[in-house]
Amino acid sequence: MIKVRFIANGKRVEVETSPTRTLLDILREDLGLTGTKEGCAKGECGACTVVMDGKAVTSCLVLAAQIEGRKILTVEGLAEDRIGKALQDAFVEAGAVQCGYCIPGFLMSARALLAENPKPRPEEIKEGLSGNICRCTGYVKIFDAVALAAQRLAR
Ligand code: FES
Ligand code: FES
Repeated sequence: MIKVRFIANGKRVEVETSPTRTLLDILREDLGLTGTKEGCAKGECGACTVVMDGKAVTSCLVLAAQIEGRKILTVEGLAEDRIGKALQDAFVEAGAVQCGYCIPGFLMSARALLAENPKPRPEEIKEGLSGNICRCTGYVKIFDAVALAAQRLAR
C-alpha cells in the first residue's frame, strides 16, 4: 500500500491504496466522484477522461503511483471552473447532453482543449474530442456546443 496526496477539484486529498489501482477507481470508489464513468477500461472510449495538470487523460490508464502531487479536475468540479461552466451551459443549450455516460468525458476533453486553444477551428474541435466515443446519436451537437462555449468565452 502507498499513500498518495493530490488535489481533486480544488481540495487536498490523501488516499491509501495499492500503487496499481487506477485513478478512475480511486475517484469513483474512494472519493465518491462517480461522474467519471468506466466504459472500456482500456483507454479506448474516453468515458473516464479527467483533466490532470491541465491535460485530458483517460483515468483508467493512470495508476495511483502516478498521481502524487497532481491537480485533478473531474466533471464534479466543472461548475466552479470558468471554462467548465461555459461548456456545461453550452452543452445544455445545444442539446448535446445525450446519454450521460459519455458526456462527462466529452466535457473534460473539451475543457482541456479550450484551456489550451481558446479559439479552436471546427477540425481542431473534432481532433480534440477524437479520443471520446459516442455510440448513439452522433457528434454534431457536441461539436456545436464546444464551438458555442468557445465563442462565449472569447467575448
Ligand atoms: S474507460 Fe477509460 S478510456 Fe474507456
Ligand atoms: S451520447 Fe453518450 S454514447 Fe452517445
